[in-house]
Amino acid sequence: MICSDFGFIDGKKVKMYILSNGKAKAEIITYGATVRSFGLLENGDFNDVLLGYDTLEEYAKNDGYLGAIIGRVGNRTGEGRFVLNGKVYHVGINDNGNSLHGGIKGFDSKVWDDKVEGDTLVLSYRSVDGEEGYPGNLDITVKYSLTNANGLKIEYFAVCDADTVVNFTNHAYFNLNGQGNGDILDNVLYIDADKITPVDEKLICRNEFYEVEDSVFDFRTPKRIGVDIESQDKVMKNCGGYDVNYVLNGEGFRKIAYAKSDKTGITLSVFTDQKGVQFYSGNFLSGVNGKNGTIYNKRNGFCLETQNFPNAINCKDYPNSVLKKGEKFYSVTVYELSK
Ligand code: GAL
Repeated sequence: MICSDFGFIDGKKVKMYILSNGKAKAEIITYGATVRSFGLLENGDFNDVLLGYDTLEEYAKNDGYLGAIIGRVGNRTGEGRFVLNGKVYHVGINDNGNSLHGGIKGFDSKVWDDKVEGDTLVLSYRSVDGEEGYPGNLDITVKYSLTNANGLKIEYFAVCDADTVVNFTNHAYFNLNGQGNGDILDNVLYIDADKITPVDEKLICRNEFYEVEDSVFDFRTPKRIGVDIESQDKVMKNCGGYDVNYVLNGEGFRKIAYAKSDKTGITLSVFTDQKGVQFYSGNFLSGVNGKNGTIYNKRNGFCLETQNFPNAINCKDYPNSVLKKGEKFYSVTVYELSK
């Protein structure tokens, strides 16, 4: 596995690894355990479909969490507050009075430890007791590898020395027309979900479920992302586009979504063992400098963030998000490209 320097931050060296199986390639940096690029290799050309930045300085600005691992708790925890074992916890507030993606300095902005095991990149981080207000020393390891079918496999392992709350994800933005090639409104999407967990005006899930049937959120028949994106639906207006958690059908490791570009013929298939996926249409991207001189504007990338339901710790009907002391957490997601 090729490794090079990617800069220096917080007194630590940041490295970039290149994973390749001859048919697909991914670049991963140790800052945020971030996937910086991912695409198919064709006749020597690298068709990168993942948004990312050229420099560590741009990653450190953290504009959009591009490609990063998110934790300790992904998405929004309402008012940055929850009760665990009878005790009230207050976690880092960084979004409209709420806690987003782990708080002020989440796992996306830490330098992770690295090692290589064969063709697998192993990245680890210790989140100490009290970091961003969360209880317990949490050890997380993320393993990245490429499958024979050109999938980027992301495995999450974690253990904590006290009861805590977790919800990890990867914040990859895709544009199947090619990264930096404008908006994603013509990418066709399928999501295997009958329900969403809607959000309020502050984008918080409040223990509710909506059926997607007869709504703009229905992607059970493949649909271009742009078709209904300007609809007057209340939840869509609150979010400024798609930005909701889908309650995935089925159980266990399974294919939960796919997306396709007619322009390039590239298809992304998403497999996970998680119960939810956040479909986010990049509504907050606004003119940031992307890789190779490109600019990322609103809706120039979409995310399918496999996860537990947002704010699950405060919503009694959502799946458990408590990781018990000593319990071993494991989850796996594969983003697979084909043409
Ligand atoms: C998404 C979230 C969006 C926005 C984005 C980062 O995961 O659903 O609302 O916060 O991250 O810009």
